Amino acid sequence: MNKQTRKAVIAGNWKMNKTPSETTALINEMKPLVADADCDVVLCVPFIDIAAAVEAAKGSNIKIGAENVHFKESGAYTGEVSAAMLVEAGVEYVVIGHSERRTYFGETDQTVNLRTLAALKAGLKPIVCVGETLEQRELGYTETLLKFQTKMALTNVSAEDMKNVIIAYEPVWAIGTGVTATDDQADEGNGFVRAAIEEKYGKDVAKATTVQYGGSMNAKNAEGLVSKYNVDGGLIGGASLKAEDFSIIVKAASK
Ligand code: 13P
Repeated sequence: MNKQTRKAVIAGNWKMNKTPSETTALINEMKPLVADADCDVVLCVPFIDIAAAVEAAKGSNIKIGAENVHFKESGAYTGEVSAAMLVEAGVEYVVIGHSERRTYFGETDQTVNLRTLAALKAGLKPIVCVGETLEQRELGYTETLLKFQTKMALTNVSAEDMKNVIIAYEPVWAIGTGVTATDDQADEGNGFVRAAIEEKYGKDVAKATTVQYGGSMNAKNAEGLVSKYNVDGGLIGGASLKAEDFSIIVKAASK
């Protein structure tokens, strides 16, 4: 597999699911099932669940992520959470620019970039989401859009910092719909992201950067998707809420 140069990362994105007590129970169920993983295993959970998640994951190979981060270091930003707060809470990864945040919460390419810079500065590993809508795909804009979103998100990010950046290609039409991109569509979309990284940073950085696929990835289709050259693991929504399904995806990425 391509994983000779890039380690696969399987990350769950729990979205707005699970209370703290449910978090403890689900992570305790997952721990033994993913203990032998030969890929990185991350669970990105709601802010309120972070303390329970970090505690439950202690001593295991599961790393904890957040689902968003604010771009300012501190100040009058009611309801927001800073990168330093996440680091102190034991968070290592953070999802940035998910299409749900772009659609429902006014996230723009510029705020995605600012959040990415804030996360990197604090030592977090951003999982930056990019992806086209069905309309954009049908109009033939997929490559242009993915390259644009990728480059915008990485404005002022140094080649050195790219070691800590993960990009997740998540076609909007595949998120939560049960419609998964085919293995080839995922490979192509991830390839456009990698090409944008190469245009910005050169071949070596492009080759070394983890690019995940996300969008209705599940226990049945994961193996085909992660077998593709450009697909270095996945960002998993619904299937990351079920311990067994998630562990099957982790196993598929460990082969
Ligand atoms: P689903 O796996 O539920 O389609 O969600 C994908 C996603 O949005 C992960 O960030």
